[in-house]
Amino acid sequence: MIRIAPSILSADFMKLGDEIRAAEAAGADMLHIDVMDGHFVPNITVGPMIVAGIKKITKLPLDVHLMISDPDKYLQAFVQAGSDYLTVHVEAAGHLHRTIQCIKESGTKAGVSLNPATPLCSLDYVLADADLVLIMSVNPGFGGQEFIPAAIDKIRDLKGMIRDKGLSTLISVDGGVKADNAAAIAAAGADVLVMGSAFFGSGDYASLVKKVKK
Ligand code: DX5
Ligand code: ZN
Repeated sequence: MIRIAPSILSADFMKLGDEIRAAEAAGADMLHIDVMDGHFVPNITVGPMIVAGIKKITKLPLDVHLMISDPDKYLQAFVQAGSDYLTVHVEAAGHLHRTIQCIKESGTKAGVSLNPATPLCSLDYVLADADLVLIMSVNPGFGGQEFIPAAIDKIRDLKGMIRDKGLSTLISVDGGVKADNAAAIAAAGADVLVMGSAFFGSGDYASLVKKVKK
């Protein structure tokens, strides 16, 4: 069954706790938290303090997406805040293999994310070490952008790589995912659908979850 990870980037931050409780009650499988530094991406969002606050009010696994330069500097802070998955960008990590090992040694699951223009071969020598690969289907930085169609081939090719190597790495897809493209993305091989604007803009979270899972 496909998993849905609402991205709080599109939630109402003035009532974030209620939004997260509503997402959990509606049947979301994990919660996607976008961390942006205004350097790796042209936007600034939240840090470990907010992640720690969220951890206290939900049982959903926290899927923390670090869109920051020099991620090594902040790994421990996000681990201690309660991240269940901690995902770094291959474009931002100078020593990706070491970064993945650091995350895993801390007892957190390690994710690696690829921008739309970054080829899958950048994962060739680290795929077996990653618990999750986050395929960006928009250029990171903002919610509400259009899904980039080339991501479908990328998901399909990545699924083939994972299968060929006999791995169980999760494929998560982030950006422009909505009810009417969810089936095609899942058919290409996605395990997790990150949904920001389509989820929090839907008005009825439970119906959206039901529709997407169907
Ligand atoms: C974009 C973020 C996404 C964002 C997706 O940089 O990584 O997680 O919230 O938003 P939608 O689903 O609206 O494209
Ligand atoms: Zn994200």
